[in-house]
Amino acid sequence: MTIVGDTSKLRLGVNIDHIATLRNARGGTHPDPIAGAWAAIQAGADGITAHLREDRRHMRDADMTRLQTLCESENIPLNMEMAAVPEMLEIALKLKPKAVCLVPERREERTTEGGLDIAGQHNRIAPIVRALTDNGSRVSLFIEAVSKQIQASARTGAKVVEFHTGAYAHALDDGDTEKADAILVALRKGAVEARAAGLEVHFGHGITFENVTAIAGIPEAQELNIGHFLIGESVFMGLDSVISQMRDYMDAART
Ligand code: PXP
Repeated sequence: MTIVGDTSKLRLGVNIDHIATLRNARGGTHPDPIAGAWAAIQAGADGITAHLREDRRHMRDADMTRLQTLCESENIPLNMEMAAVPEMLEIALKLKPKAVCLVPERREERTTEGGLDIAGQHNRIAPIVRALTDNGSRVSLFIEAVSKQIQASARTGAKVVEFHTGAYAHALDDGDTEKADAILVALRKGAVEARAAGLEVHFGHGITFENVTAIAGIPEAQELNIGHFLIGESVFMGLDSVISQMRDYMDAART
């Protein structure tokens, strides 16, 4: 399928989950994540990403329907993150988002803590990838940048891999530059291998103003998915400014 938008530039997918987290802290309807998605699109987001978790801790089913309507009318891809489970598959098949990212999910985790084990679960993941792809969604698999997982991802028929950048972000936060450098080398190597295997390469998790330049500078990168930092920093800068600043860092990293 074709991907909406200019594929020659590095795309920014804005993850709006934490607008819903804030709303849910009080119940009710404010702040509305769909209003946030609209604001993100006006500020230059190339896509909207939202994770419908099994425990519905942030996005709700009705949010996903409203997001899909908004994204369709704005001609912006909705990237639905979901666990590879029958309940979510059924929802995604009805919703028909432009993109789906399969992620591992554990109820006790605070956020998506690691990549999917595709190598160990081919027979479970491949039919889900096929069903979603046949239904018109571009499927990505959220994995660690290791050869075994990259090759296994390609064998599922998925068109995209998203590499987990959380460990890189944490190493930098901890001031462990040696570890961060080693992880960056692995991300770069993984990106080359994934492209050679015919996969589009995305990155996501823990991306901030501090670490985006190195990640956006990986030549194979086609999309970054960023949530927590953008929504958190918007408290100080406003959503519009934080997104345009991130966009500027991403563009600068490619020149
Ligand atoms: N990409 C994927 C697959 C994710 O699961 C998440 C977290 O929901 C993100 C990107 C965004 O991570 P962060 O909120 O740390 O920017």
